[in-house]
Amino acid sequence: MNILLLGSGGRESTLAWKMSQSSECSQLFIAPGNGGTGAYGKNVNLNPNDFEAVKTLILKENIEMVVVGPEEPLVNGIHDFIADDEALKHIPVIGPKKEGAILEGSKDFSKQFMARHGIPTAASRSFTKETLEEGLTYLQTHALPIVLKADGLAAGKGVLILDNNAEAQEELKLMLSGKFGEAGTTVVVEEFLSGIELSVFVLTDGENYVILPEAKDYKRIGQNDTGLNTGGMGSVSPVPFANETFLNEVEQDIIIPTINGLKKDKIDYTGFIFFGLIKVNDKPFVIEYNCRMGDPETESVIPRIENDLVELFVAAGKKQLKNVQLTISPKHAATVVVVAGGYPGDYEKGKSITGIDNVRKSIVFHAGTALEGGVIKTNGGRVLAVSSLQDSQFDALQSATADAARIYFDGKYFREDIGFDLV
Ligand code: AMP
Ligand code: GLY
Repeated sequence: MNILLLGSGGRESTLAWKMSQSSECSQLFIAPGNGGTGAYGKNVNLNPNDFEAVKTLILKENIEMVVVGPEEPLVNGIHDFIADDEALKHIPVIGPKKEGAILEGSKDFSKQFMARHGIPTAASRSFTKETLEEGLTYLQTHALPIVLKADGLAAGKGVLILDNNAEAQEELKLMLSGKFGEAGTTVVVEEFLSGIELSVFVLTDGENYVILPEAKDYKRIGQNDTGLNTGGMGSVSPVPFANETFLNEVEQDIIIPTINGLKKDKIDYTGFIFFGLIKVNDKPFVIEYNCRMGDPETESVIPRIENDLVELFVAAGKKQLKNVQLTISPKHAATVVVVAGGYPGDYEKGKSITGIDNVRKSIVFHAGTALEGGVIKTNGGRVLAVSSLQDSQFDALQSATADAARIYFDGKYFREDIGFDLV
């Protein structure tokens, strides 16, 4: 079958790598893809949010399945667009419709969803311009620290954690007067949870689900989790502190109530659900839902799945995931992200990359790269994800870190401590 994958990051490189190994995959198209995805299929330069362009491509290339990597086209309704189009409606889409993607698209919605279905999460209240005064009073005596979240998609920048009530009041005013644009029309004020974070993923057809390997990502730019937040500097899977008892609790207290909640609310959901979790006194709480896979978690999670990924997607599209048995490798995966100097602030693009062929025990997934005149150049902040799958966690961490060091471009930076806190 001909498959179209939408997106251009490390997550999409990994999905493309895995799907291209399937005997069910005749031709894979990646739109727009990056400097590395051409190794797994054909890059097509279009914007995934331009639905008419996506339609033209689907018809031209006889696409029989669409897999959506990032959240934005999902929240904007790419699945609805395909399902509502006479010429396209027979094509399965991996990724929820708007009514499901809102779990990520609106934090206020997801908090209400969790409250309605008894899913453990931080206590919260939401405020708008109309209820600003109430919000300011609420914040006056709120326990510290205080978490403020813009309701909508804010490219990972919409969460503020504040140590001072007056400062939180000031920020609430700023957010409700447009600091994060439309995304901040509603602000969720949340209790701060103290614990260690991890990510759990399921693929669901709305009725059944399979639980993918759990992962932990490292968000800060600096060694030992210091400095600014980024889109992700590395990841590991499995996660040592997520033992069997804990993961069973995640399934019973969070995954099952979420799938049942979707059913009760009549939300028909096909695709990934990413549970951003925090372990507080051994109990799991949901920090956030995402309607897609995580990045750079995907780069550690997907290599551990031994099944044919296209077969899994076909089963999901037919609501037959109950017939699928997932096989997970017991090996350990580690991913080190190589970024451009200056990231997550300003950085330059267009630097020539060398040394990718020198890596010894890892796969290099391209993220922010472009192929220009036969040369791989940097084209984003997070440039490459170096992933290693090994028998022991220590070997995986060491191989990924050593291989990240074998790559060179002007201004290159990576964290040398990814995962070593867990050993
Ligand atoms: P989010 O965009 O919801 O994932 O939030 C970004 C980050 O803020 C999370 O990964 C956490 O590190 C932190 N965070 C969000 N909500 C809370 C909370 N209620 N308590 C503690 N930390 C939080
Ligand atoms: N790694 C976190 C995310 O993908 O949002």
